[in-house]
Amino acid sequence: MLISFWGKGGVGKTTLSSALAVKLAERGYRVYLISTDFVPSLHDVLGVEFSDEPREVCNGVVAEQLTEEKIVQLWKERFGEEVYRVASSIFPVGREIIDYVAGAPGIVEEFTLYYVWDKFHRINADFMVWDTMATGGGIRMLRIEKEFYEHLGDAAKLYLKLKGVIDKVRTGGAEPLELIESWRRLASNILEFLKSEQHRAVIVSRPLPVDFSVTRRVYAELSDAGIPVKAVIVNMVGGTVTEDTVLDAFNREFHGKAPLLLVPSVSPPPCGCERLKSIIESEQVERLLRRLL
Ligand SMILES: Nc1ncnc2c1ncn2[C@@H]1O[C@H](COP(=O)(O)OP(=O)(O)O)[C@@H](O)[C@H]1O
Ligand SMILES: [Mg+2]
Repeated sequence: MLISFWGKGGVGKTTLSSALAVKLAERGYRVYLISTDFVPSLHDVLGVEFSDEPREVCNGVVAEQLTEEKIVQLWKERFGEEVYRVASSIFPVGREIIDYVAGAPGIVEEFTLYYVWDKFHRINADFMVWDTMATGGGIRMLRIEKEFYEHLGDAAKLYLKLKGVIDKVRTGGAEPLELIESWRRLASNILEFLKSEQHRAVIVSRPLPVDFSVTRRVYAELSDAGIPVKAVIVNMVGGTVTEDTVLDAFNREFHGKAPLLLVPSVSPPPCGCERLKSIIESEQVERLLRRLL
């Protein structure tokens, strides 16, 4: 099962996804933790260094920090050639089209989804815990995948039109139309996967009015995309003046929709395996698991 963490920057997604990963591993589950936040912070939270390769942390969690450079590189390896083949069968373009498309807006977000989806199917774990990019990017990523899917239908039609007009000599390989269709199937599979039983979303927030509004919006966006939100975690509880009123608002808003889990603000900020473990109570993990499974 894939458990994804959503919410704006600074609310504690990296911290809590790491904490949950550690708690699940403690119970004997095989856990894969992946952070696709391109402001890498897994090393701060876990207190270890990361390279491009996944590594084991905290007794049994396999963790991976995906960077933007790596995702661009992998995109080129996976799709660069296909994009070149499709593009060059229509227009007289050279291989520089690959770099051009790799730098186009949305490609990184779109491919991040593909990467997580692909990874999920390759690894052998009971839970994959996914620290998504901050809200803007995260939600954008879902919209792009949907648009991508819809536009690929148009791309195929456009291709057929052009095909009739442009006389071209083709050299072996898959038909461009088949490639476009395969991308479309892929985008559709990814969207279906995110809506499926294999994926569960959790939103992280803080007891502040502005975070409450963001949470409502993220909840609506995920629900509209057909993705069930299984819990809302209000992190860093304790301290602020407005808190009780905001917590009331959270309770009213999510009553019957998603259970609220409250996590206290601790000082100093939680990092390292042991402190991460103590930030979520075992009873909360139980409750979460009951909702997730
Ligand atoms: N419960 C908590 N108590 C105190 N500090 C926290 C708590 N949760 C997170 N933090 C701190 O808040 C900051 C943001 O957390 P982080 O997990 O990086 O958020 P995000 O991934 O959503 O941007 C970090 O400095 C982190 O150590
Ligand atoms: Mg983060």
